[in-house]
Amino acid sequence: MKTKPMKMKIPVCARALSFLLLLGFLQLSEAQQPNVVFVLADDYGFNDIGYHGSEIKTPTLDEIAASGVKLENYYVQPICTPTRSQLMSGRYQIHTGLQHGIIWPEQPNGLPLNSPTLADKMKESGYSTHMVGKWHLGFYKNEYLPWKRGFDTYFGYLTGSEDYYKHLRGYKGTFKQFLDLRNEHGPVKNESGHYSAHLFTQKAVDVINNHDEKKPLFLYMAYQSVHGPLEVPEKYMEQYKHIKDEKRRTYAGMVSAMDEGVKNLTQALKSKGLWNNTIFIFSTDNGGKPMVGGNNFPLRGEKGTLWEGGLHGVGFVAGGALKSERSGEVNKELIHVSDWYPTLVRVAGGHLNGCLPLDGIDQWDTINKGNPSKRLVLLHNIDPLYKKSGAPHYPDLFDTSVRAAVRYGSYKLITGNPGPGKWTPPPSAQSYSQALDADQSLYFQRETSNPKNVWLFNITADPTEHHDLSEELPQVVRVMLDLLSKMNSTSVPVRYPPDDPKSNPALHGNVWGPWE
Ligand SMILES: *[C@@H]1O[C@H](CO)[C@@H](O)[C@H](O)[C@H]1NC(C)=O
Ligand SMILES: *[C@@H]1O[C@H](CO)[C@@H](O)[C@H](O)[C@H]1NC(C)=O
Ligand SMILES: *[C@@H]1O[C@H](CO)[C@@H](O)[C@H](O)[C@H]1NC(C)=O
Ligand SMILES: *[C@@H]1O[C@H](CO)[C@@H](O)[C@H](O)[C@H]1NC(C)=O
Ligand SMILES: *[C@@H]1O[C@H](CO)[C@@H](O)[C@H](O)[C@H]1NC(C)=O
Repeated sequence: MKTKPMKMKIPVCARALSFLLLLGFLQLSEAQQPNVVFVLADDYGFNDIGYHGSEIKTPTLDEIAASGVKLENYYVQPICTPTRSQLMSGRYQIHTGLQHGIIWPEQPNGLPLNSPTLADKMKESGYSTHMVGKWHLGFYKNEYLPWKRGFDTYFGYLTGSEDYYKHLRGYKGTFKQFLDLRNEHGPVKNESGHYSAHLFTQKAVDVINNHDEKKPLFLYMAYQSVHGPLEVPEKYMEQYKHIKDEKRRTYAGMVSAMDEGVKNLTQALKSKGLWNNTIFIFSTDNGGKPMVGGNNFPLRGEKGTLWEGGLHGVGFVAGGALKSERSGEVNKELIHVSDWYPTLVRVAGGHLNGCLPLDGIDQWDTINKGNPSKRLVLLHNIDPLYKKSGAPHYPDLFDTSVRAAVRYGSYKLITGNPGPGKWTPPPSAQSYSQALDADQSLYFQRETSNPKNVWLFNITADPTEHHDLSEELPQVVRVMLDLLSKMNSTSVPVRYPPDDPKSNPALHGNVWGPWE
């Protein structure tokens, strides 16, 4: 009996001590964990931001970018789902099966569940995690929804290309439009008429204002802006009366509305006292689409193509958690959208346990210290389902009729059909109609039975892809094709299921949502 109290005491003390130690550790690591706010714009072109010389005015984005680090050798994927899938998984499409196209709302498809998302990892590191805006990573089953994939809260839409005011999205092959707006509790039916740049900004500001500072904040703000359809409140177009082309004028207004949204967002962070411990990242998801107002000049090509106009993104990093010496820097190191995953897990003090092997590379020291990028190779994509083009040259290495592109140092190799490769100046430029004429002839060239399907560029020397080196440097082409072939050997089968008629929202409450 006598010894019993002693025996009891020791473990209690030890437990109390370890509890105190744990508390101390948690407080320490919390203090060091910066808030992370990631703003993703949609279809926002290289020539659509003020500091790239655009006629579109972006005073907020320019100012924030100038206070931080502009990423000028920054790459994304040429379309929506691919970029978002790599941001959320840190993995190339050849490793997630999402090599081909986007996830259509009617397809039973999604970002595979076999590896945690960036949000899962931030949550695991103690962050409060929130998403506002466009998901586009699949929703046919509950497990694929954003609030099942690491986000504590969600407000936004699951598909793409919807109306900015009504929040409706059509069902394939019909004229029927269905609501696509929801939060983690269910569909949101009372926001018709609320322009999405305003609505989403307000929801993100609410997240910031309601944030409990005991935890660090991770906010992923995926604007609908500035994807088509071309819709914006009139007042945002007023300053662009001089732009004669109506599409470009409307698009410019949409950019201005987004710029104002980002201003409201950063002001909310500042008012709450969060800004000086925040890493603020701004990125586009892919290049602009000139048909709906976007512009990538002087880069070649556009959204959906493997030319630089599709892939070479607008991006910058700012916020008080960035070293103040970095302010005003232009970073020319090779950085890719898949790199955010390990970079942000690292700044969150997390680990990569439980992740399938990543293709992203931790770039924090590149951004925050100005170190050289550790990325030498960048696989843009290999898409075995894209319509083949031309004869398979170099058959011993890689079937060059397959659509693919890879970067190795300064060199970029493209195979197959990369999509229209025009240089389109903004419609306000005098050379616009000439450029469109030149483009017509490029289209006709592609229609020949055996079109060209191998290009090699030195992107450092020739960022606008005017000088194809593939015939001059066949040995470099061989090295690059060998690289593609090695990467291809690690690819998983493509996930691109046929449409499922059960997806029809008319079958479940006239709202887009899970159907399995
Ligand atoms: C819609 O309903 C939500 C939840 O009740 C509310 O917070 C929001 O303010 C409403 N929006 C409008 C435009 O009335
Ligand atoms: C930004 O905030 C102002 C002031 O509250 C508001 O009038 C404006 O509509 C907001 N803009 C956006 C894009 O949310
Ligand atoms: C961060 O912001 C708060 C509130 O604006 C301010 O009191 C504090 O001094 C700032 N800290 C640093 C390190 O700048
Ligand atoms: C890529 O790999 C797949 C599967 O191993 C193979 O079937 C295909 O032919 C390869 N593609 C090319 C272009 O070499
Ligand atoms: C690519 O161009 C840059 C700039 O002109 C040059 O320094 C570099 O040597 C070239 N790269 C290769 C691999 O030729």
